[in-house]
Amino acid sequence: MNDRTISPNAQTEEKQLETSLRPLDWDGYFGQETVKDNVKILIEAAKLRGEALDHVLFYGPPGLGKTTLASIIAHQMGVNLKITSGPAIERAGDLAAILTNLRKGDLLFIDEIHRLGRAVEEVLYPAMEDYALDIVIGKGPSARNIRLKLPHFTALGATTRLDLLASPLRDRFGAIFRLEFYKPEELEQIVRRSATILNVPIEPEGALEIARRSRGTARIANRLLKRARDYAEVRADGVITRQVAHEALSLMNVDPLGLDDLDRKVLHSIIGKFGGGPVGLETIAASIGEEGSTIMDVVEPYLLQLGFLDRTPRGRVATAHAYNHLGLVAPNRPEQPSLF
Ligand SMILES: Nc1ncnc2c1ncn2[C@@H]1O[C@H](COP(=O)(O)OP(=O)(O)O)[C@@H](O)[C@H]1O
Ligand SMILES: [Mg+2]
Repeated sequence: MNDRTISPNAQTEEKQLETSLRPLDWDGYFGQETVKDNVKILIEAAKLRGEALDHVLFYGPPGLGKTTLASIIAHQMGVNLKITSGPAIERAGDLAAILTNLRKGDLLFIDEIHRLGRAVEEVLYPAMEDYALDIVIGKGPSARNIRLKLPHFTALGATTRLDLLASPLRDRFGAIFRLEFYKPEELEQIVRRSATILNVPIEPEGALEIARRSRGTARIANRLLKRARDYAEVRADGVITRQVAHEALSLMNVDPLGLDDLDRKVLHSIIGKFGGGPVGLETIAASIGEEGSTIMDVVEPYLLQLGFLDRTPRGRVATAHAYNHLGLVAPNRPEQPSLF
């Protein structure tokens, strides 16, 4: 999964590159206009009142810029950013230790927050709501509860799966924002910015070609840029033209819409093995030997966005667009009755 060229999850050796490409101010952060406008207002308001920022939750598929938003916010607020994640906080005590080390105004970024354990969540609730940490001292009949005061910090949550977040946790965020897939023009700007930072010569058409094939995802755009640079250096004169980008990406089996082998496997399974659906996601996953959560997090959102899949109560259905894209003939399905 992790060596998948268009996996939106960061690959290990990519972390460093990613850090160097992560913008620290709004000028370098393209697209997501609604989120940006709202977050800017939250920041200004908090600064005016001299208070900590409200708790904010970001959700959306991986690679769209959630962690980047957290670092921009920290930079703009001039506060510390402590980064952790749901699976990294194993016990309630781990979270208590993190919380007691925060200072007023600090940001605590919890990635994959839907993966926090129940006991850890119980510690987070009063911390977010009352800036309080309840601890039990002693054992048995003489045990007593004491409540420690915490500094006014800000919790920033990020998740790919809002549906898996416990509703009491969701309710404790003052603002919840959904990140959208990027348009090709936005990804083109991201690619051009990254190329400048990495000192890679690129023509505008080359940037657009990479943008179109990045399945709406900033992380993938940066990764494809890197691969196109390698190709340009080895097979061309170092400049990423449209033709160079096209050849480099075709070589990686990334098609003109950004679909890779795994996407096509999913579509071929629905169409070839299940007559186009409806079929349950777990069944599709099992039929191609993948994890259901992988399909759910990283394959399905983009196929839905392209209109290649429909989600129905009885399962996923491949649309006529999907058949066309694969060069297949869509079966004649009865039209949905129209209300008009
Ligand atoms: N709006 C954006 N503008 C420019 N670069 C972006 C933007 N969003 C994400 N990136 C880049 O994409 C990469 C992945 O972003 P990241 O914030 O780690 O995604 P997420 O946390 O949602 O998985 C980073 O290198 C970041 O610099
Ligand atoms: Mg992230």
